[in-house]
Amino acid sequence: VEETLRAAEAPLFWVGACTVASLALWLLYRLVSGFRIWVLGNGSLLSPKLGKWAVVTGATDGIGKSYAEEVRAAPGVALAWQISRSQEKLADVAATLKELYSVETKTIAVDFGRSDIYSKIEEGLAGLEIGVLVNNVGVSYSYPEYYLHIPDLENFITNMIHVNVTSVCQMTRLVLPRMADRSRGVILNISSASGMYPVPLLTVYSATKAFVDFFSRGLQEEYRRQGIIIQSVLPFFVATKMTRIRKPTLDKPTPERYVAAELSTVGLQSQTNGYFPHAVMGWVTTKLVPSSIVIFLGARMNRLQRTGYLQRRRLR
Ligand SMILES: NC(=O)c1ccc[n+]([C@@H]2O[C@H](COP(=O)([O-])OP(=O)(O)OC[C@H]3O[C@@H](n4cnc5c(N)ncnc54)[C@H](OP(=O)(O)O)[C@@H]3O)[C@@H](O)[C@H]2O)c1
Repeated sequence: VEETLRAAEAPLFWVGACTVASLALWLLYRLVSGFRIWVLGNGSLLSPKLGKWAVVTGATDGIGKSYAEEVRAAPGVALAWQISRSQEKLADVAATLKELYSVETKTIAVDFGRSDIYSKIEEGLAGLEIGVLVNNVGVSYSYPEYYLHIPDLENFITNMIHVNVTSVCQMTRLVLPRMADRSRGVILNISSASGMYPVPLLTVYSATKAFVDFFSRGLQEEYRRQGIIIQSVLPFFVATKMTRIRKPTLDKPTPERYVAAELSTVGLQSQTNGYFPHAVMGWVTTKLVPSSIVIFLGARMNRLQRTGYLQRRRLR
């Protein structure tokens, strides 16, 4: 009887041993790659070798402004090209940054809510050696709302798709050909954690950000062999004008802190949450918790926010 039991246990023993060994290898791999990304980082990426110019869309505030500063502070990347809506704000930011880093800046004021702006941008970019493009410009809801209750829904849809989606495709169309000719360049597309799963009551925003994520990951595979880095960046909350978060915390960092962390992942991850606490949140919400629960909880949180917002507005 003992011999029969031993014979039956042997295969089970090996199944168990192989499972434990592969889990241990997987854990070791995750630890080593986590250490490489979040501790060592990829600090040397922004170098003069990439190209003289960095172009940042939506660069007068929040995350885009921090990218413009970080890129500009990098040795060798001397020039930044910033695109936003208000010329006055652009001039302010350019002057402040020129004082800080004494490097040249060009600006162009366009409304990314329109689709007829790209020939103007193309003219401005003509002949420039662009090393970095940050497709950052984006708009969200002013408060979470059910689709059919969104004020001025028709214009809301057009504007959000033009700003969040069309701008990414068109700016890439203008910049990528010369990067491909020179076999170098970095394109950072700012998606959002809201693009990792549907977020009810922010449905259009979340869908546009899923587009940006898919676009970036597909394009990265198309142009990887030509030496181009295209990264999909999916932040959770960052304390900016968009989120109206005034007090930064560990999980809701300042844009400066977020961007500094994000830049050290470029070249190491083609899809990233960009900041260690956000990477943990990304892992929990995509790998640990079933997506139906994440969607359910997202809807609950946004319904509460919507009620609070509408009550405050009525009180006013
Ligand atoms: N903050 C977050 O928690 C968070 C989280 C995930 C993803 N994101 C994404 O990160 C990106 C930046 O967000 P943020 O929080 O930094 O936003 P923000 O503080 O509201 O800044 C947005 C920038 O875009 C410009 N902009 C807005 N609409 C424009 C238009 N129609 N035409 C031209 N420029 C326009 C604004 O400049 P003007 O107003 O001067 O034109 C400003 O410079 C967005 O794509 C957003 O979806 C943010």
